[in-house]
Amino acid sequence: MAYIEFDQVVKEYPTGGGTPIRALDGASFTAAQGELTVILGQSGAGKTTALNILGGMDTATSGRVVVGGRDVTHLRKRELIAYRRNDIGFVFQFYNLVPNLTALENVELASQICTDHFDPAQTLAKVGLGDRLGNFPAQLSGGEQQRVSIARAIAKKPKLLLCDEPTGALDYETGKEVLQLLQDICHEEGMTVLIITHNSALAPMAHKVVRFRSGKVTAEEVNAAPSPIADIEW
Ligand SMILES: Nc1ncnc2c1ncn2[C@@H]1O[C@H](COP(=O)(O)OP(=O)(O)O)[C@@H](O)[C@H]1O
Ligand SMILES: [Mg+2]
Repeated sequence: MAYIEFDQVVKEYPTGGGTPIRALDGASFTAAQGELTVILGQSGAGKTTALNILGGMDTATSGRVVVGGRDVTHLRKRELIAYRRNDIGFVFQFYNLVPNLTALENVELASQICTDHFDPAQTLAKVGLGDRLGNFPAQLSGGEQQRVSIARAIAKKPKLLLCDEPTGALDYETGKEVLQLLQDICHEEGMTVLIITHNSALAPMAHKVVRFRSGKVTAEEVNAAPSPIADIEW
C-alpha cells in the first residue's frame, strides 16, 4: 500500500446559487514514503486544492485520502488540528514568515505547538542560516526567507513536507538552491516531500511526477534515477 493514497477525490466550491466550481474532478494518485513527488500542471488545474486537502487545510467533497495508513478524509475538527500541527510541514510561495519575529523565533513559534520537534537553531544551521538566527525577515533575501520557512516546516519532524510553488517568487539560481535543499532533505532525512510547480523542466528531479489537468490526474510517471538539481537546466 502506498504511503499517500489520493483516491477519486472531488472538491466542489459553492458559488452562491450558481453551479459549484469543481476544483478536483475525481483526482487519483499515490506517493511513496521517503520519496520526492513533483506535481505538475497549469494554473487552475487543482494542484493547490489537492495539497491543501492532503495537509488538512481543506476537506474533500467526496473520495478518499489516506496518509501513512490512516484515513484522513473525515477527521473531526480536533483531529485535523493535531494532524496539521504534528504531521504536516507546509512551505508556501511567499514564505509567510511573521515579520516582527526573528528567523529563530519564527522557527520556535511553529515548533512550540507540536509534541516533538528538532532544535530550532540547529535546524536553521542545517539550511545554511546558522549565522542569521537574529535577523528579521526583512533583513533576509527571498531565498534566505524561503530557507527559514523550510526550517520552520522541517523542525516539526513532519511525516509530510508539502511545498506549493516554493520557488515561484525566486530568481533562477536561488530557486535552484532551494530545490537542491528540498531534494537533500528528502534523501538525507528520508522525509516524504511533495512539490507543486508549473515548471515541467523540474520533472527529472523527482522519484515520481503527477500531472494535473482540469481537476484530474492525467499521468503518473515513476523515475528510477532522479537527477540532481545541478544537472537540470530550464
Ligand atoms: N476557495 C475557493 N473558492 C472557489 N474556487 C476556488 C477556491 N480555491 C480554488 N478554487 C478554484 O478551483 C480551481 C483550482 O484551483 P487551484 O487548486 O488553486 O489550482 P492550481 O493550484 O493548480 O493553480 C480554480 O478554478 C480556482 O479558481
Ligand atoms: Mg496553486
